[in-house]
Amino acid sequence: MSNDTHSNETILANGLGHMDEQHLGVIPGIFPSTTFERAADNSYPNGKIYTRDHNPNYEQPEQVLAALEKGADAMLFSSGMSAAISVFMALKPGDHAIVPRVIYWSFRNWLLNFASDWGIETTFVENGNVDAVKAAVRPGQTKLLWLETPANPTWEIEDIAAWAQIAKDNGARLAVDNTIATPLLCNPLELGADIVMHSATKYLNGHSDVLAGALVCKTKDTHWDKIRGIRASGGAVLGPFEAWLLMRGMRTMAVRVKQASSNALAFSQQLEKHPKVEQVLYPGLASFKGHELAKKQMSGGFGGMLSIRIKGGAQAAIDVAAKLKLFKRATSLGGVESLVEHRASVEGEGTLCPDDLLRLSIGIESVDDLIADFIQALES
Ligand SMILES: Cc1ncc(COP(=O)(O)O)c(C=O)c1O
Repeated sequence: MSNDTHSNETILANGLGHMDEQHLGVIPGIFPSTTFERAADNSYPNGKIYTRDHNPNYEQPEQVLAALEKGADAMLFSSGMSAAISVFMALKPGDHAIVPRVIYWSFRNWLLNFASDWGIETTFVENGNVDAVKAAVRPGQTKLLWLETPANPTWEIEDIAAWAQIAKDNGARLAVDNTIATPLLCNPLELGADIVMHSATKYLNGHSDVLAGALVCKTKDTHWDKIRGIRASGGAVLGPFEAWLLMRGMRTMAVRVKQASSNALAFSQQLEKHPKVEQVLYPGLASFKGHELAKKQMSGGFGGMLSIRIKGGAQAAIDVAAKLKLFKRATSLGGVESLVEHRASVEGEGTLCPDDLLRLSIGIESVDDLIADFIQALES
């Protein structure tokens, strides 16, 4: 089935038309086989050899993701982190990368603590400062620009097209962590990026029950081949059941993301007015620093993630989280249920996160219930 004429909603709901061809079941089966038989002529008729790289259950989600991101190819990984790390592992010792200061903290830690040991140097630049990116370029040595937008947990917006131009002018590649925006609200490849990364654990799956990651490329080049080789030799892939579950989650992503985005906007507009709130950080708010840029490069909403800084500091924020009844106090994001987290507590030493900040993953519940819950926690 061609996806040329279909909207994202249709691609997702129909899963590009994949079926259980053997029984004509409308949902493909789960294929646990780790190995695939050769034909008598010694070939592999359907191209699959061994499940460390090949499994029928990867194909549908990979094709759907490539269609949503308008890319040439996609690869699933066992986690968002393994997908991100593979992009850097495909570099060579001595190569240089540029990354904004505030990004998902675990990946920042990996860059600080592991990538440098393998000879990959990273310059961290101030978020939202394209001139700082230009100034950080080392001609001939800078091979990768990496950004995350909106950036977890303060949701700074990076100008993808401007970063892509800097990469292009300097013979480097741009990779974008598009986890928070999802392919429904932003398509970095269309803005000039070369690779898009997702923690599929979040909105793609949407039910807080699968750990997964994904990469999508604009063109299948040597860097992409290298990443495929890294995945094939390391085997950082999903089990077939998890890949199947991920696809099941993806089929409802359009309605989930739409609801979470409109909830997050209404929630942040309401909470911004509360006297016990210092600041609401949400790209959809006119008061947010990156709002105009977010409007330019996102469409259909600003996503379900926001943060609230509570007047009175860290303990006041932790106390508010303790009094919430509907929100679950847990890390992660992108599920149908709303979560709250005192972010500095989970990031620990070296965190760049303000200590009065609660990170909220807004789910698809009634927004009135969510607002009422947060206000009772602030006021009780
Ligand atoms: C923006 C972002 N990127 C990457 C990751 C890592 O993904 P995973 O937990 O699937 O490894 C996360 C996890 O929270 C994230 O929020």
